[in-house]
Order: sequence, then C-alpha cells, then structure tokens
Amino acid sequence: MIIDLHQVTWTRGANTLLSNVDWQVRPGEHWALLGLNGSGKTTLLNMITGYLWPTSGSISVLGHRFGDVDLRELRKSIGWVSSSLQEKLYGTDRTQYVIISGKHATIGLYDDFSEEDTSLARELMRQLGCLHLWDREYRTCSQGEKQKLLIARALMANPRILILDEPCNGLDLFSRERLLESIRELALSKESPTLIYVTHHTEEILPVFSHTLLLRRGEVVQSGESADLLTTDVLSSFFEAEVVVDKHGERVYVRAAN
Ligand SMILES: Nc1ncnc2c1ncn2[C@@H]1O[C@H](COP(=O)(O)OP(=O)(O)OP(=O)(O)O)[C@@H](O)[C@H]1O
Ligand SMILES: [Mg+2]
Repeated sequence: MIIDLHQVTWTRGANTLLSNVDWQVRPGEHWALLGLNGSGKTTLLNMITGYLWPTSGSISVLGHRFGDVDLRELRKSIGWVSSSLQEKLYGTDRTQYVIISGKHATIGLYDDFSEEDTSLARELMRQLGCLHLWDREYRTCSQGEKQKLLIARALMANPRILILDEPCNGLDLFSRERLLESIRELALSKESPTLIYVTHHTEEILPVFSHTLLLRRGEVVQSGESADLLTTDVLSSFFEAEVVVDKHGERVYVRAAN
C-alpha cells in the first residue's frame, strides 16, 4: 500500500476539518483529489506528509506507520509541488540550480552537487519539455514554465509519491495543455512516482488518473475509479447542485445546469 488512511479525523477547537477519512492508494494507481475551496484537500495532504497529526485514526505511507517512522526520512520520498513553494524560491537563481537543489529539498544551496546531478537535471528538464530554459533566471520564466521546473525539481529527489496541488492554476489554455501532457507522460513512464493530483477542474483529470477521491467538508463523499465518479449523477450529488457532465474524448467537463 502506498497510502493507507484509516478513520482519520482532525479537529481544531469546535471544527472538524477532516472526518473519518478512509483512503487507500495502491501501487500503480494515480489519484485525483476533487473538492470545493475549504473542503480539506490541503489539510489531507499535510496529514500524509506528517506536517499535521490526526486527532484520531491511523496513517501509513509507503508501508510506514506514522508514530513508528522518522518523518524527515519519509518526506524525502514525497515530492510536493504547490504555489506556496514557488514563492519561497529565489527569483534570481538559474533554473538548473533550482532543479538540482531539489535533490536535498534545499533552497538557495548549490555547493554540493556532482556531474551526475547536473545531467539528471538536464534529463528531467528534457522530459518535462523545458530544457530550453536551461541557465535562465527563474524569475524570467512564465507561470507554466515555472510549474514544469518545480515538477522537475521535485523529481530530482526521486520521490515515490508526487503531490501536485493545483499545478495548472494561473495557466492559460495552451500552457495548461502542455503541462498536462508532461504530467501524462510522467504518469505513463515506467519510473513514475504515484501521483496525487489536486484540482477544481474535472477536465484536468486525465485518464492516467485512474482513481478519484471526492472530498466535501472534510468528509470523503465517494472514492474509486474516476470513470465511475465523473458522471452527472455523482457530481450533482457531490456538489449539492445540478451540474451537467460533458465528455469530450477522454476528458470530462462540468458545467452548472440551468
Ligand atoms: N491550522 C488550521 N486551523 C484552523 N483551521 C484550518 C487550519 N488549516 C486549515 N483550516 C481550515 O480547514 C478548512 C480546509 O482547508 P484546506 O486548506 O485543507 O482546504 P482546501 O480543500 O485545500 O481548499 P482550497 O481548494 O481553497 O485550497 C478551511 O476551512 C480552512 O480554513
Ligand atoms: Mg488547498
């Protein structure tokens, strides 16, 4: 089991922010996480990475039960790409160093890297279709380019789980498609980590995301195979509003029904 959450609850004062969450992610699966603002997605990710501790319930990640494991060690196996990371990086750094420093998840420290690190960074940039950005100042890259660099940075540490928290935020239609294509290729590659993809937009849930978890007010409303969940009936009930699901090719678009 890659991720195994059993009856995980997290309360802050009178508020229950996660309630009896059960979630099992098995090898070979990639998951999408869908839920409105404030439904608890980021909180749930903070549980998996051990930054928050459940009020009750149990968590195992990569076969290690929380409580019996050195979380700092475990976190090395988990990559996390989010917009908050973007803000922490130094804009004047060269792109390849932003990536290389992902090896030890450091920011602004590049003293200790080898030839192999440099070639791995180059290979990852090639894989993600951003090798042309080599040696550019990070701050001069566009939002979409930065996201690709951050994914390459996360992969530098060879994680077994890669969390992508709304990676397409702020991207135009075409940049978004390019990033999604890179993510698709990553997911299909033999050495891909298990992907956890957080989004508000069902059309970003590519077929490589075999499974989806629907989170509402801290509760898992449903989880299972994406194809079974991304339907008019399930999503209308999930959003507590009439929505219509349109399928175009392998992508699912949702709009409010009038
Ligand atoms: N440390 C905290 N103390 C109290 N409340 C918190 C804390 N962290 C998060 N919350 C609350 O928990 C709820 C879930 O937040 P979370 O950030 O997990 O939502 P989300 O699903 O990631 O939303 P979004 O789509 O907007 O990113 C929110 O109501 C938030 O205000
Ligand atoms: Mg969030």
